[in-house]
Amino acid sequence: QSVAVIGAPFSKGQKRRGVEHGPKFIRDAGLLERLSNLDCPVHDLGDLTFHHPEKDDTCMQVRFPRTVGRANQLLAGAVSSAVGAGHTCVMLGGDHSLAIGSVEGHSRQCPDLGLIWVDAHTDVNTPATSPSGNLHGQSVAFMLKELQDKMPDLPGFSWMKPFLSSRDLVYIGLRDVDPGEYYILKTLGIQYFSMRDIDRLGIQRVMEETLDHLLARSQRPLHLSFDIDAFDPSLAPATGTPVNGGLTYREGIYITEEIHNTGLLSAMDLVEVNPLQGASRAAMEATAALAVDVIASSLGQCRVGSHVRVDEIP
Ligand code: ARG
Ligand code: MN
Ligand code: MN
Ligand code: MN
Repeated sequence: QSVAVIGAPFSKGQKRRGVEHGPKFIRDAGLLERLSNLDCPVHDLGDLTFHHPEKDDTCMQVRFPRTVGRANQLLAGAVSSAVGAGHTCVMLGGDHSLAIGSVEGHSRQCPDLGLIWVDAHTDVNTPATSPSGNLHGQSVAFMLKELQDKMPDLPGFSWMKPFLSSRDLVYIGLRDVDPGEYYILKTLGIQYFSMRDIDRLGIQRVMEETLDHLLARSQRPLHLSFDIDAFDPSLAPATGTPVNGGLTYREGIYITEEIHNTGLLSAMDLVEVNPLQGASRAAMEATAALAVDVIASSLGQCRVGSHVRVDEIP
C-alpha cells in the first residue's frame, strides 16, 4: 500500500496566526525520511495553494465561510484523487476545519468509511451553538446527516452535503465540550471516549470498543482525524487551543498502532500544529516531532521494530 502526503497550509477556520505553517514544520521534523523507512512507497504531493477571496463577511456568526468552504472544496478533490489512485492519504494541516474537505473527499471514494476523531474537542458545534464562530470547532456538524436541518446554507459550502451517519463516528480524548455539543453528542447517541473514560477503562479497552463499534458488522475503510491537541499540552504545547489532562505519549501511539493493525486505514489528518504557539523553539520542535511519530505509527512504524522476515535477517 502506497502513501500520499498532501500539505494544507490553511488557518482561516480559527483566529490564531501560525497554524498555516504546520505542513512545513511537520516536514522539517523529518516526516518523509521517517516514512521512507516503512516498507511502502511515499508520494509527496506538495502543498495546496489556497486562494482567499478578498471580501468574506461573517455570515450567521460564522467567520470566513467562503474562504473555508472553497479551501475545503479544493482539498476534497485532492484527497479524493489520492485515495482513488490507491494511496493512503495523509493530510497535514492547517486547522481542523480542513477535516470537512478531507473526510468528504475520502467518502467520495469510500462512502462506507468509519471516522475516528482523536481530539480534546468534539468540533461539532453548529453555527447556532458555536461560542466562537470559528469553523474549526464545527467541522463534524457539516458532515453529519442527522444535523442537516440544523445547518444553514452558508456561502462557500454549496459544493457539499452531509455524508456521514452519527453511528459511523467515534471520538477519543474529549475533555472540552461546549454545552450545545454535549446536547448533540447525547441526542444523536454518538460513541465517545473522554479522557475520563480512558482513565476508567484504559486505552486498550477504549480501542477494542472503538474498533468493535466501527468494524463489528463489516470491514470498512477508516479515516483517522487526529488533532494534536488531543495530547497533553506538556507533550504538544504548540497548538492553538491546548487543554490540560490530555493523552500521554503511550496512549496516543497505542491508538495509532491499533488503527494500523486493522489494515483498514485509508486516509488521515494531522491538524492544529501551530509553531507560533510554542513558547520556545524546543516546544515547537517537540510538537512537530510528536506529529511525525503519530503519522509514522499510523502507517506501520512499530515500537518493537519493523517486521523483518526471519529468513531476511543477515
Ligand atoms: N469548542 C470551541 C469552539 O467551537 C473550540 C474548538 C477547538 N477546535 C479545534 N479544532 N482545536 O470554538
Ligand atoms: Mn482540538
Ligand atoms: Mn479539533
Ligand atoms: Mn505493520
